[in-house]
Amino acid sequence: MTTLAQAAICRGKGEPFAIEDVRLDDLRPDELLVRIVACGICHTDLAVRDGQLPVPVPIVLGHEGAGIVEDVGADVTVAKPGDRVLMSFNSCGTCPNCASGAPTYCHDFSAHNWSGTRIDGSSTLFIGDAPLNGNFFGQSAFATHAIAHQRNVIRVPDSAAAIPLERLAPLGCGLMTGAGAVLRSMNVMPGQSIAVFGTGTVGIAAVMAARIVGADPIIAIDVNDERLALAKDLGATHVFNARSDAIEKVRQLCPAGLGYVLDTTGINSVIEGAFALLAPKGKLGMVGASDPGDMLAFNEAQFMGMGRTVMGILGGDSDIGPFVCELIEHHVAGRFPFERLIAYFDLADINDAVHASESGRIVKSVLRMSAEH
Ligand SMILES: NC(=O)c1ccc[n+]([C@@H]2O[C@H](COP(=O)([O-])OP(=O)(O)OC[C@H]3O[C@@H](n4cnc5c(N)ncnc54)[C@H](O)[C@@H]3O)[C@@H](O)[C@H]2O)c1
Ligand SMILES: [Zn+2]
Ligand SMILES: [Zn+2]
Repeated sequence: MTTLAQAAICRGKGEPFAIEDVRLDDLRPDELLVRIVACGICHTDLAVRDGQLPVPVPIVLGHEGAGIVEDVGADVTVAKPGDRVLMSFNSCGTCPNCASGAPTYCHDFSAHNWSGTRIDGSSTLFIGDAPLNGNFFGQSAFATHAIAHQRNVIRVPDSAAAIPLERLAPLGCGLMTGAGAVLRSMNVMPGQSIAVFGTGTVGIAAVMAARIVGADPIIAIDVNDERLALAKDLGATHVFNARSDAIEKVRQLCPAGLGYVLDTTGINSVIEGAFALLAPKGKLGMVGASDPGDMLAFNEAQFMGMGRTVMGILGGDSDIGPFVCELIEHHVAGRFPFERLIAYFDLADINDAVHASESGRIVKSVLRMSAEH
């Protein structure tokens, strides 16, 4: 079956996204064809556009897709045609980390998510007969249709039948990563202090998760006062603007140091400043994309002697389906009100949506491809 679609093609730094006609490949046994209803824009899409990640361009990006299954390969059990699904990152399912429930650290993560092709080198997308890079995070969902895989599709639970798919879309990356960093990777304990640097989608999701856990204080730091005000509304007990001596203010608030710090900025000086705020045994989690050549410097005695932990975090250590369903439960119960972050744009207005995100005006831009019903 030939599936034609429209997709937003990314041609690299400084180039606008361009909506063009594409063709999808036939499904393999473990693949699903999804009609995309909506897809969030994550900062990582823009990091790829700007050459910060080893992903080939031109490519169709988009890795927070939500939609309706139209067709499935013979081996697919995760969902059936007509099901409402979310998509997340893909993984191999057999390496030591996949086998132990840590698929975000799949040994073949890059090949499954960032190579522009399937793992066997074949293309999922074409313009005419010419292959186009796709399969980004196993989906490439800045498009009206996408090919996804058995391992990166989550069937939306019936308990969320009343929640529009377009709202749920960002669970597949940004929300899952921030919440997972707190609830899973760092395993933040009730009553412990946490500071979150950067209050974009990932940072605010972390703040909301810290409130769910009962962390205290919950400190948010950013350079954008509107985002800080939102973070305060959604769970931060204290907010500080990084441009006005935030580190010193955190030190005064928590003179014994912090139990946890999460960096979502990817900025070296911010990460090194955050490290210095940790209490003995404190944990620093890092999720921000940075330039490929960036190096960090920590004082060895303060690192080892104080038993501190510095951890890189991918996808919030999510096990995909179970954790996304846990977050949906929190949302349905009103504990994870991420709808406050979202503004919607038509796919045709993708460049406006990107600008709204990059300017800091909108925390989470979500593209609409088609109506759900
Ligand atoms: N590791 C992962 O699995 C994963 C998943 C999703 C996103 N990411 C990455 O995480 C990062 C955050 O994603 P996002 O979507 O929330 O991005 P975002 O750009 O919306 O948020 C980053 C925030 O940092 C703030 N900031 C900039 N300079 C600062 C400073 N000096 N001090 C404090 N705050 C500052 C910005 O104002 C912004 O609000 C991005 O780099 C993204 O690529 C990683
Ligand atoms: Zn694996
Ligand atoms: Zn992302």
